[in-house]
Amino acid sequence: MEANSEDMHATSQNTGHKKLYLRTFGCQMNEYDSQRMAQVLHGEYNLTPRPDDADLILINTCSIREKAENKVYSLVGRLKKFKEQRPDLIIGIGGCVAQQEGRRLLRRMPYVDLVFGPQGLYSLPSMLKEIENGKRGILCTELRDDFPIPLITSPLPEPNPVRTFVTIMQGCDNFCTYCIVPHVRGREVSRPPGDILAEIEAVLNEGVKEVTLLGQNVNSYGKKVDAYPSFSGLLRMVAGVPALRRLRFTTSHPRDLSRDVMECFQDLDTLCEHLHLPVQSGSTRILKRMNRHYTRDQYLKTIEELKSLCPEISLTTDLIVGFPGETDADFKDTLSLLRTVEFDQIFAFKYSPRPLTVAAGWSDDYIPEEIKAERLNRVFELQKEIGFRRYKAMEGRVEEVLVEGLSKKNTEELRGRTRGNHVVNFLGPQRLIGEFVNVKISKACYHSLRGKISSPAG
Ligand code: 5AD
Ligand code: SF4
Repeated sequence: MEANSEDMHATSQNTGHKKLYLRTFGCQMNEYDSQRMAQVLHGEYNLTPRPDDADLILINTCSIREKAENKVYSLVGRLKKFKEQRPDLIIGIGGCVAQQEGRRLLRRMPYVDLVFGPQGLYSLPSMLKEIENGKRGILCTELRDDFPIPLITSPLPEPNPVRTFVTIMQGCDNFCTYCIVPHVRGREVSRPPGDILAEIEAVLNEGVKEVTLLGQNVNSYGKKVDAYPSFSGLLRMVAGVPALRRLRFTTSHPRDLSRDVMECFQDLDTLCEHLHLPVQSGSTRILKRMNRHYTRDQYLKTIEELKSLCPEISLTTDLIVGFPGETDADFKDTLSLLRTVEFDQIFAFKYSPRPLTVAAGWSDDYIPEEIKAERLNRVFELQKEIGFRRYKAMEGRVEEVLVEGLSKKNTEELRGRTRGNHVVNFLGPQRLIGEFVNVKISKACYHSLRGKISSPAG
C-alpha cells in the first residue's frame, strides 16, 4: 500500500436521481473502494461535491495512523448539524475505522445510520433499502477470510478517466508489528485472473490509458490457489492486453520481490519503470522488531539487482521513524540507506501506536514525540537534497508524459506523469488530457518537474 497524505476527495457524475457525497481518507485501496461504492450505487445516486446538498453522505475512513483516525472523528462530528437540519439524510461510515470500531462508532455517534467495513460496501444497496424502510444503526463489519471481491463493470464515477486502479488481491498476512491493516482488512485473498482481465477491459473501454494493479502485498498474488498464475505471470498476462498503454503495480513487500518480477521491468514495454518498495527502516535490528523478514543488506541487494536489470528505474519508499526502541544508531542506518539507494521520493511517518498491533504493547520502548519529530525533519531534509539532485539530472531529457488533467497550482497549465511516475507541469491545450505527449524537461522543482511539449508521443 503506497502511503499518501490522508487526503480526501469528492467527485461528480451525472446519472441517477438522489445525491451522494463521498469523502475518502487514506491509501489507494480506499480510493479504489470509494470508486466501488459509487459504482454499486450507480443508477440510484449521482455524486455531488457538496455535503449540504446530499441525500446520502458516505465517509470512507483510514486508521493507519492516529492522526488519520482523528481527522475522521472531527469530520463525522461536523456532520451532526446536517442530520439535525435534515433528518432524512442518511450518514454512513465505511472503511478501516468503521471495521476497527464497529458498534462503538454507532454508540458514540447515534446520528450515524450505517457503519460498514471494506467488505461491507458491496451490501450498500440492500442496507440503504433497509434504512429507507425505517431501520437505523445498521452494522456490517463481518470480516470473512475468503471474501471474494465481486466483479463490477458499471461505469467509473470519474468522467473521462485517464488512469485507474484495479485490485488484484485484498488483505494482508504479514502482520508487521506496527500495522493495523491485517486486523481491519483480513487475510490475503487473490482475485481470479479472469475477473482482473474483465475489469481491465471494462476500464479500457471507458478510455483509461494507465492501470495500477493494487494490493497490500501484490507479490504474493496467486500463492494460495494452484490454478492462478504467480504475480509475474499475471503481469505478463495483463501486459498483453492490446489497448493498455501503461501498467504499474503497488505495493510490493521487499521480502517477496522475486527475480521473475524484476525481469518484467526489462521485458514488458507497458510496465512503467517505477517501483514503490517500502523499506520502513534502514536498521536490521528494527526491521526484525517490525517483523519485516528482511535485513538492511538484503534490501540493498534487491535494489542493486533491480538497478542492474533496469538502470532507469525510479524508486520510492515508505519509512517510519521513532519505532519503539529505535536508537540514534538505528536512525543513522535509515539515513545512510537513503543516501545509498537515492529514492526519487519518500513517504515518511512518525510511528503511531495502533490498537490490536503487537508493537502497541511495547510502551516501555516508546520514543518521545520531540525526538520522533526531529528525526522526521532530518529524514525530509536529507531526502529533499537527494530527490532534488535526482530530478535535476532529468533536466534536458525528453520524457513520454501521459496528460492527466490541469495543473494543481496553475490551471492554465497541464499536468501529467512520466513513466517513472514523476509529475510534470507544462503549457498545452486541454484537448491533450488523456493523450501521450513528449515533453522536454526544462526545470526541476522539489516534487515535480516543469517542461515544454516537444511532440505528440507515438
Ligand atoms: N505508524 C506510522 N506509520 C505507519 N505505517 C503503517 N502503520 C504505521 C504506524 N503504526 C506506514 C508504513 C506503511 C504506510 C502505508 O504507512 O510506512 O508502509
Ligand atoms: Fe501492513 Fe506490513 Fe501488511 Fe504492509 S505488509 S499492509 S505494512 S502488515
